[in-house]
Amino acid sequence: MTDPAAALSLTGLSKEFGGLLAVDRVSLTIGAGERRAIIGPNGAGKTTLFSLISGETKPSDGHIALFGRDVTRYAPHRRASLGLARTYQITNLFPRLTALENCLLAVQALTPAKFHLHRGLHRYPAFYERARRVLEAVGLADREGAAVRNLSHGEQRQLEIALALAGSPRLLLLDEPTAGLSPAESHAMTALLKELDPAITLLVIEHDMDVAFALTDRITVLHYGKVVADGLAHEVKASALVQEIYLGAS
Ligand SMILES: Nc1ncnc2c1ncn2[C@@H]1O[C@H](COP(=O)(O)OP(=O)(O)OP(=O)(O)O)[C@@H](O)[C@H]1O
Ligand SMILES: [Mg+2]
Repeated sequence: MTDPAAALSLTGLSKEFGGLLAVDRVSLTIGAGERRAIIGPNGAGKTTLFSLISGETKPSDGHIALFGRDVTRYAPHRRASLGLARTYQITNLFPRLTALENCLLAVQALTPAKFHLHRGLHRYPAFYERARRVLEAVGLADREGAAVRNLSHGEQRQLEIALALAGSPRLLLLDEPTAGLSPAESHAMTALLKELDPAITLLVIEHDMDVAFALTDRITVLHYGKVVADGLAHEVKASALVQEIYLGAS
């Protein structure tokens, strides 16, 4: 049964790639406003799980409900219009455009109005206002005119969060937001994510356990596509199985 109060509910969700079960009968419920980390070794199926939730990949079996509605057969844009947004493990920005222009494209993509970047600011005051607000939310207000390729790696990852915020999501999926960041950048990103509107339900794939523990109370562990542990951070950390498969002996 789908919990109508849940932001996200997965039931027996599976994805097979030519005989490989990348996601294996995953059932999960994320409450509205919850912050949950998903951890697991390389190839555990974490990114595939996100692609199933966002609709970019079709499940082999199982069901997905967003805010109490079965969206298993919905195209990605219909899921987005219900309040779902995601970021990607690999940067997904337009490198020659400025930070602000990238945000503008994200803002306008979610509205039916026709938009032309070259027509300038005065034509679309609401778009610019929204774009500036999301830049500010990720601490990039003073970098709006910088071309993306001139931003640091850390700033680019912050900008990706801004793009995901452009549509005012209710459920945000972040795929390794601190991947490739220096310790200082990772720290800044963690602080930024902690400051996000608490009304936004957050599901974060994170390799850095310190970041996962800092951001969320609850952790779900995937291994070979299966949920092998699910609980409060300290419980998961203490689990012998989790230490064996993920944390390692180091
Ligand atoms: N499009 C695809 N076609 C075939 N196999 C795929 C495809 N996408 C993913 N896989 C396989 O599914 C498994 C899970 O991959 P996935 O990228 O979801 O793992 P992950 O947990 O995100 O790993 P990482 O920590 O390295 O990002 C892997 O064995 C991968 O090779
Ligand atoms: Mg991945």
